Amino acid sequence: MSKLIVKNLKHIYSDGQNEVEVLRGVDATFEGGKMYAIVGESGSGKTTLISLIAALDKIQNGDIKLDGKSIRDIGETEFRLKFVSIVFQAFNLIRYMTARENVEVELDLAGHAAGRERAYELLKQVGISQTKADRLVQKLSGGEQQRVAIARAMAGDKPIVVADEPTGNLDENTEAKILALFKAMADDGKIVIIVTHSQKVARHAHAIVRRMRDGKLT
Ligand SMILES: Nc1ncnc2c1ncn2[C@@H]1O[C@H](COP(=O)(O)OP(=O)(O)O)[C@@H](O)[C@H]1O
Ligand SMILES: [Mg+2]
Repeated sequence: MSKLIVKNLKHIYSDGQNEVEVLRGVDATFEGGKMYAIVGESGSGKTTLISLIAALDKIQNGDIKLDGKSIRDIGETEFRLKFVSIVFQAFNLIRYMTARENVEVELDLAGHAAGRERAYELLKQVGISQTKADRLVQKLSGGEQQRVAIARAMAGDKPIVVADEPTGNLDENTEAKILALFKAMADDGKIVIIVTHSQKVARHAHAIVRRMRDGKLT
């Protein structure tokens, strides 16, 4: 099973005048087969941390290793493409393709055959009907795009799944279903890391809760 180790991670934002030290030495271990909920106040650095784990931003200080290999050595782009499925609200969907095509592309990349039907099936699991699946992504609501991104993560067979507030736009009923899908990805052996405000996600029976506070993860 995969293991992701975050070691003494530090991150500073600077606008030329002011510096904010957002991460002040984060240490954590995330294991395959488990679902983690990262909680903490707004502005505490949750998005910064998972952006670094997703290799969307460059590590300034400290290290992140997957099974002993550092993102620094693998390179951000390569690491992201090979190892991480990302569910960030506005990130990563191809807006001029339909929802189904977005999922199908990911299935293709993961080397799965019979993409089209499987794509509809995955979209159905996140509550996107066939009619909506055939719509351009940019014609779907924010909540629907979010769900397409989740289906896409399910299609990509990558060892790490990171999600930033994946149930933020959804009603309670849908939230429970989506959580079950993330849990299923964890059961499939993936490392699943969800940043959330939701008490429900944090209290989910299978979630391991980690809190961001004072620039560290406790
Ligand atoms: N690109 C950026 N440039 C400057 N400051 C940033 C940037 N991104 C985030 N910040 C600041 O870093 C802090 C942590 O942000 P973030 O990681 O988004 O926290 P969270 O996701 O927990 O709300 C906030 O004070 C935020 O304003
Ligand atoms: Mg955030």
